[in-house]
Amino acid sequence: MAGFPYADRFEINRQLPEHGTPREEILAMLETMAKEEDATWETGKCSGTMYCGDHDHYRFLNEAFAKFAHVNVLQRDMCPSATKFEAEIIAMTLDLLHGEAIDGSEAGGLVTSGGSGSIAHAVLSYREYAAAERGVTRPNIVKPETAHPAFDKAAHLFGVEVRTAPVDPVSLRADVTWVDEHVDENTVCIIGSACNYGYGTIDPIEELAEVALAHGTGLHVDGCLGGWLLPFGQELGYDVPLFDFRVRGVTSISADTHKYGYALKGTSVIVFRDKAVRNAQYFFNTDWTGGKYCSPGMDGSRSGGLIAATWAAMVSLGRDGYRRYAEAIFATAAAMQAAVRSHAELRVLGSPTFLFSFTSDEFDIYHVNDFMRTRGWRFNGQQYPNAIHMAVTRPQTQPGLAESFAADLAQAVDYAREHKDETPASGAIYGGVAGGMTDEADSFIRMVMTDMLDSQSALPEG
Ligand SMILES: Cc1ncc(COP(=O)(O)O)c(C=O)c1O
Repeated sequence: MAGFPYADRFEINRQLPEHGTPREEILAMLETMAKEEDATWETGKCSGTMYCGDHDHYRFLNEAFAKFAHVNVLQRDMCPSATKFEAEIIAMTLDLLHGEAIDGSEAGGLVTSGGSGSIAHAVLSYREYAAAERGVTRPNIVKPETAHPAFDKAAHLFGVEVRTAPVDPVSLRADVTWVDEHVDENTVCIIGSACNYGYGTIDPIEELAEVALAHGTGLHVDGCLGGWLLPFGQELGYDVPLFDFRVRGVTSISADTHKYGYALKGTSVIVFRDKAVRNAQYFFNTDWTGGKYCSPGMDGSRSGGLIAATWAAMVSLGRDGYRRYAEAIFATAAAMQAAVRSHAELRVLGSPTFLFSFTSDEFDIYHVNDFMRTRGWRFNGQQYPNAIHMAVTRPQTQPGLAESFAADLAQAVDYAREHKDETPASGAIYGGVAGGMTDEADSFIRMVMTDMLDSQSALPEG
């Protein structure tokens, strides 16, 4: 591990300090770290992760957050505002995802801590609902290989079997026939992504919905990434297939407000066609000596600040604000994809929209990544096949950025051609780009990853 972060400049706290530090000193320290770290993405050269990138917007959200940061929304009698904010966040999300098409059931939703939180609540809800309604005791979900690992994590936590469907090697969309053949009476839901993280491709949601309806099971659409952006792409005339509640068999959708909803980190929404599915995971302990306890999801106490800031983001931008941002993102993504397609050595995978992945059949694409890193670009790395992806967010829509991408990419292709017989320095790891590990044994990879995770919270030496 590199040295302890900022050890050269700031004192390391190995114990709780006996005396407090003046606030101005603390704020100056935080300001230094935040400014330097923001500089890494403000260039616009970083894939995904920073969705809005507008410091003025962040200041506004932080003001909204500050007013309720200290409030625990579990105690609703003290904060009716939280009920207003949460209900309206869910209502606005349902509106965006065409909740008006729902009939014959009462829709509902949950505000969760993020994409993984929404996915975990989906898996738990379907498990509990299927247990109560159909007596399912050995639950499984059927998910395309490209669906996010948060489904595997949730299934692992909740004792649910995962049946992993292959995707078509060219379109990179779920193999619906495989899904149909592997759903059985213990399937609590099918998963589809709109869009998936790796390739930005959208599964054939209408066909998956037919399968779900035919088998009498649920279909959860993971719109964590696309839920707040693709609807505006549809409005702008981009080729985005239906994936929302207008598709009859879609029974729930996750859509991350902390991504293209432009809220602060730490919120997502899951909306259900029938709130009975959500309610199946409500937790009650009615005879606890501490009082009768109930909670709507997995969290206990939650901060009112995040809910207020999320609501504030949605209301301040409005449909036309989101549409305007989407217009720039889709246009930039199209320009960047055109740059990739202009090189015969590069190949865009599937038919993506705002997030695209590309590879090469001529050389290891990580050579391109290696060169682009020297120009400040930070892509996400993929494997099987090696590929790199760019999730276009607002920082890339700044003037001249798509043009710099094209210019740097042209040089990167030359570099890759020249170095094709060497081993590239970079490789695939989610959340960053690390050393080439893809061909190593699984246990070795886990050891390396364990070290990496350990190092993220390693105690200071000495
Ligand atoms: C399609 C998709 N689903 C789920 C997630 C998980 O979201 P989070 O990292 O907020 O838990 C992501 C994250 O990028 C995603 O892209």
